[in-house]
Amino acid sequence: MEFSWLETRWARPFYLAFVFCLALGLLQTIKLYLRRQRLLRDLRAFPTPPTHWFLGHQKFIQDDNMEKLEEIIEKYPRAFPFWIGPFQAFFYIYDPDYAKTFLSRTDPKSQYLQKFLPPLIGKGLLALDGPKWFQHRCLLTPGFHFNILKAYIEVMAHSVKTMLDKWEKICSTQDTSLEVYEHINLMSLDIIMKCAFSKETNCQTNSTHDPYVKAIFELSKIIFHRLYSFLYHSDIIFKLSPQGYRFQKLSRVLNQYTDAIIQERKKSLQAGVKQNNTQKRKYQDFLDIVLSAKDENGSSFSDTDVHSEVSMFLLGGHDSLAASISWILYCLALNPEHQERCREEVRGILGDGCSITWDQLDEMSYTTMCIKETCRLIPAVPSIFRDLSKPLTFPDGCTLPAGITVVLSIWGLHHNPAVWKNPKVFDPLRFSQENSDQRHPYAYLPFSAGSRNCIGQQFAMVQLKVTIALILLHFRVTPDPTRPPTFSSHFILKPKNGMYLQLKKLSEC
Ligand code: HEM
Repeated sequence: MEFSWLETRWARPFYLAFVFCLALGLLQTIKLYLRRQRLLRDLRAFPTPPTHWFLGHQKFIQDDNMEKLEEIIEKYPRAFPFWIGPFQAFFYIYDPDYAKTFLSRTDPKSQYLQKFLPPLIGKGLLALDGPKWFQHRCLLTPGFHFNILKAYIEVMAHSVKTMLDKWEKICSTQDTSLEVYEHINLMSLDIIMKCAFSKETNCQTNSTHDPYVKAIFELSKIIFHRLYSFLYHSDIIFKLSPQGYRFQKLSRVLNQYTDAIIQERKKSLQAGVKQNNTQKRKYQDFLDIVLSAKDENGSSFSDTDVHSEVSMFLLGGHDSLAASISWILYCLALNPEHQERCREEVRGILGDGCSITWDQLDEMSYTTMCIKETCRLIPAVPSIFRDLSKPLTFPDGCTLPAGITVVLSIWGLHHNPAVWKNPKVFDPLRFSQENSDQRHPYAYLPFSAGSRNCIGQQFAMVQLKVTIALILLHFRVTPDPTRPPTFSSHFILKPKNGMYLQLKKLSEC
C-alpha cells in the first residue's frame, strides 16, 4: 500500500532506472573486487613496499621522487608490484635478466598509454603494435640511413651555432646564470624541423613556436598524472575535470602545429615543387617518406597515419634530446675535471669547430663516454610499458600471468646497486671498451633494446655529440648553486623548473 506511488505512470521509469543503476553499480563493485583479488593472487610471489590501501604507491610518483625509487630498488633488487589505487597494479622490473626476457618478446604497448597518449604522439610508430607497427617500422627505417645522418651533421651544427650566438649576446667572460633548457629545447625543435621536415622555422629567434613547446610540457604532465591517478582512468571523470578541459585545449595546439607542417608540404607537392626540393636536398626527408609510403596493397598512408607519424617524430625527435643535452651539461658542470678533459679532446679534434665530420664524431671517445654515463645516471626515457599478451616466466622461475602491465624501469636498472658499483657516482670510465665488454648486455638500456628499440638512436647520438662538442668549445659550464634542477618525470625525465647553469664565454677556441 505504501509503495502505491510506484504504480503511478511517472514514477515507474524512475524506479526502473534506479534499480538498473544500482544493479550496474553492484556489478561494477563485484568486478573491481574480483580484479583486486586476482591481482593480489597473481602478484603474491613478489614482495611489495608498504602501500596505502586506497592510494597505493601513487604518492611517490606524483612527487617525482626518484630517490624513493632508489631506496626501493636497494630493498627489492629485481622487481616489485606498484599499486595505483586499490584495483590496479603495474609490475616494475629493473634487473638485466628480467629486462632481457621482457624485451625479447613482442607484447603490445600498454593499453593505458594507447588510451592516454594519442594527443601527444598520435597512433604513430611508438604506439602501434603487430603487423601495422612492422609495416611502419620498415617504411620509416630508411629515413635513418647512415648517409642521411651524415648530411644532417652540418644542419645540426648550424642550429647549435644559432643558439651559441644567442648565449654569447647574453653571457660575458664572467659567469652568467642562464636557464638553458628552454634554449636547448628550441634548438632541438629547430633541428628536427630542418632534418625531418626540411622546414626553416627560425624558431630559435621567433617566439611564435613557444606555445607548441609549452603545450608539450604541460600535456605530458597531465597525461602522466592521469596514468598514475586511477580515478582519472575513467574518461567521464577525466573529461569533466579541470585537467581534462586543459588537456583538450592543449591537444588542439599540438594538432594545429602538426597539421600546418603537413598541409604546407602537400601544397608545395601539388604545386610541383617536389622535384626541385628533393634534388636540392639529395635525399628524401622524413615527410617525403611518410607522404609517399604505400602499404602492401599499394595504398598510401591515411591522413591519420601521416598525422600520427609526424606528431610522433616532432615530439620524439626533440623532447627527449633536449632533456638529454641539458642533463649532460649539468653532469659536466658538476664534474669540471671531466668537462675539461672533454674540451681538450674536442679542441684536439675540431680545432675552432668551423666544420664537423662523421669521422671526427667517431674520434670523440671520452666525450662519448661522458654522454653515455649521463644517459645511465639520468635516462631521458625513465620507463617503458607493455601489457603481457601471454604468461611471462623470468629466468629465476617467477611467473606473471597474461594481462599484467609490466614497466621496465630504465632508471631503476641504471641505478641498481646489484648491477652498478656506486651507481650514484658519475664515472665515464664505466663505458671504456674493457668495462663495457664485462657488463650484462641488458644492464644499460637508454634506448631500449630488441625489435622495438629506439629508431632514432643514431640520430640522437649524432646530435648529442655535435651539440656538446660545440658548446664546450665556446663555454665553460658550472652549476648555479642557488637553483639546482629537480626532476619532472613525465614520460621524459626533464628539469622541472628549468636548468640554470653558470656560463662563461671562453675567449679563445
Ligand atoms: C636521447 C634521445 C632519445 C632517447 C633516450 C630515446 C629513447 C627511446 C626508448 C627508451 C624507446 C623505447 C620506447 C618503448 O619501447 O616504449 C624509444 C623508441 C622510439 N624512439 Fe627514441 N629516444 C631518443 C631519441 C629519439 C629520436 C631523436 C627519435 C626520432 C627522430 C626517436 C624516435 C623513436 C621512435 C619512433 C620509437 C618507437 C620505435 C618502435 O616502437 O618501433 N627517438 N626511444
